[in-house]
Amino acid sequence: MPDTDTKAAAPNTHLAPYAAKGLKGRILSGVQPTGNLHLGNYLGAIRNFARLQDDYECLYCVVDMHAITVWQDPAALSSQTREIAAAFLASGVDGRKHAVFNQSAVPEHAQLAWVFNCVARLGWMNRMTQFKEKAGKDRENASLGLYAYPALMAADILIYKATHVPVGEDQKQHLELTRDIAIKFNNDFHTPDFFPVTEPLIFGAATRVMSLRDGTKKMSKSDPSDYSRINLTDDADAIAQKIRRAKTDPLPMPDTAADAEKRPDADNLLGIYAALADQEKDAVIAAFAGKQFSEFKAALTDLAVAKLGPVGAEMQRLMKDPGYVDSVLNEGAAKARAIAAPILADVYKTVGFLKP
Ligand code: TRP
Repeated sequence: MPDTDTKAAAPNTHLAPYAAKGLKGRILSGVQPTGNLHLGNYLGAIRNFARLQDDYECLYCVVDMHAITVWQDPAALSSQTREIAAAFLASGVDGRKHAVFNQSAVPEHAQLAWVFNCVARLGWMNRMTQFKEKAGKDRENASLGLYAYPALMAADILIYKATHVPVGEDQKQHLELTRDIAIKFNNDFHTPDFFPVTEPLIFGAATRVMSLRDGTKKMSKSDPSDYSRINLTDDADAIAQKIRRAKTDPLPMPDTAADAEKRPDADNLLGIYAALADQEKDAVIAAFAGKQFSEFKAALTDLAVAKLGPVGAEMQRLMKDPGYVDSVLNEGAAKARAIAAPILADVYKTVGFLKP
């Protein structure tokens, strides 16, 4: 019987080759092409991608195979896949130096995912909160792919032996599962150092961007009100209107962090300001303490337009040039496959698959 609870191998052996090149490791991250990108996606994930590219070797993947775990219109899926790639590039990711690609273009993800389906235990999968949320009450009608989703995510990461993954709060459990799968595979096959035990990279506190209409709910693409979110492709007028209409309360701006915490709508706007300005929230609270919301909102609008405007405009420009985006995706997939193929070959050999 394979055992499951031996200690994890230290990731150091996996870091050494990068250290020799002056790098901290290899990053893999993924974003689903399931609808319009908003400020929450940008501040929570995509903006950080460019910030990592000098210190890590980076692979940024549009996870189209994860997207179809729930129904996607095929034409929409294709254009949304390009849109996410465009967002990576518009946010400053260097698609020529690093790999920007779509998951389905690198078949090794799916091949490793099958092996991981046989490593992961039903008990582990049953604990996944994202499945419970997405499947909702009608669990019997959820796709098998939605259930297996985290094993595919583990394969996304480990097919490159990625040492680090930038994750938001909501993906921590999936990364924990990835670590469990790596450890179990290493133990079961007596290959102690084969897969690294991937480390999460968590970014600043302001990654929790809430709805502009309700500071207690996450900003979401599925909220029926477009005023609840700032989309990455919104122009300056739309950004200004949405911030003007953002929910606040009748009091002046909070003057302490404790005061802000009790006022979720104000707290959310302050957090957005701090993230966009790359400042500590406490500093922003101090700067606007006791002022009127109108004054703060005007400053937030200027800041948001200055920071997001160029990203949105570049995305729009790239979306009009699908040939270019496809060429980046193509090149990225080739780069990714060159890393993935030998790792998959090692896995297949380790598992005992014949290669006649
Ligand atoms: N599950 C992630 C999300 O919904 C997307 C994802 C898929 C991912 N594969 C990944 C994120 C690998 C990081 C690494 O946001």
